[in-house]
Order: sequence, then structure tokens, then C-alpha cells
Amino acid sequence: MLNKKMQDALNQQIQAELSSSYLYLSMSAYCEAAAFKGFGKWLRIQANEERGHALKLLDYVLSRNGKHELKVIEAPQAEFGTMLQVFEKVLEHEQHVTALVHKLYETAHQEKDFATLTFMQWYVNEQVEEEATAQEIVDKLKMIGDKSSAALYLDKEYGKRAG
Ligand code: FEO
Repeated sequence: MLNKKMQDALNQQIQAELSSSYLYLSMSAYCEAAAFKGFGKWLRIQANEERGHALKLLDYVLSRNGKHELKVIEAPQAEFGTMLQVFEKVLEHEQHVTALVHKLYETAHQEKDFATLTFMQWYVNEQVEEEATAQEIVDKLKMIGDKSSAALYLDKEYGKRAG
């Protein structure tokens, strides 16, 4: 059984993951509308992944006989500027999520909730990957500067993401 503090922290993380999903969905629509279909597809898949992260947490809360508490998800922004600015925002957001994951991990440690500690290890590892991927896209977009043919090539490449 989860203690109240742990349960609240996990429910808060469900909200954070769903907020990420909502933000990436908005970014995806923005890219699509700007004719960057590949980045749009990549972000749509990312939005679905974030929803998956939330569901994994929800299932965990339920498996520990905890009480779910779904919170309000605020509307994300709709305009994001250049593709570089879109992915800089993704990176910044992932760094924020990493900080939240680490805080949750710390809480599990303080509460001596070893099951949650083990469960959260997956999220700690996932964040390393998520930040690295976002960083790579930012670096590539910086590299190409304002060369639109290169931007379209990258768009095509990232549009190959399958899941
Ligand atoms: Fe689930 Fe990208 O953090």
C-alpha cells in the first residue's frame, strides 16, 4: 500500500506526463500546419509516448492499491516559432521532467518505499534517453542554420520514426 505522500507524488507525476503529451500534441499540430510533416509525426509519436508514461504510472498506483487523482491539464501554447525553437522547447521541457522524476525518486528514497524506488528507475533511465534525443535534434537544427533544403531533409529523416 502506498503512503499518502508517495501517492500524491505519483499522481502529480501522472499530471506532468499528461501535460507533456498535451504540449507535444500542440507542437505536432504546429509543425504539421507549417508543412514540417516529419517533425509533426515525430512529435505526435512523442505525445503518445508521454501518454504511455502517464498510464504506466496510473497502473502502478492501482497495483499498489493506491487512489488515482487525475488533475487539471492546462492548455499548452499554440505557437512555437522556428523548428529550432520548437525543439529547444522540447529539450527544456524534458530537463524539467527529469527534475520532477529525480524529485519523485528522492521522495521514494526518503519514504523507504523500495518498490516505488525500483519502479521509478525506469523513468530515470528514460529521461537520459529523452534528453539526449532532444539535444541531438537541437544540435542538428543549429548546424543547418537557415538552410531550408537541409531542414526539409531533417524533417524527412525524423518523419521515419515508427514508434
Ligand atoms: Fe515522460 Fe518525456 O517525459
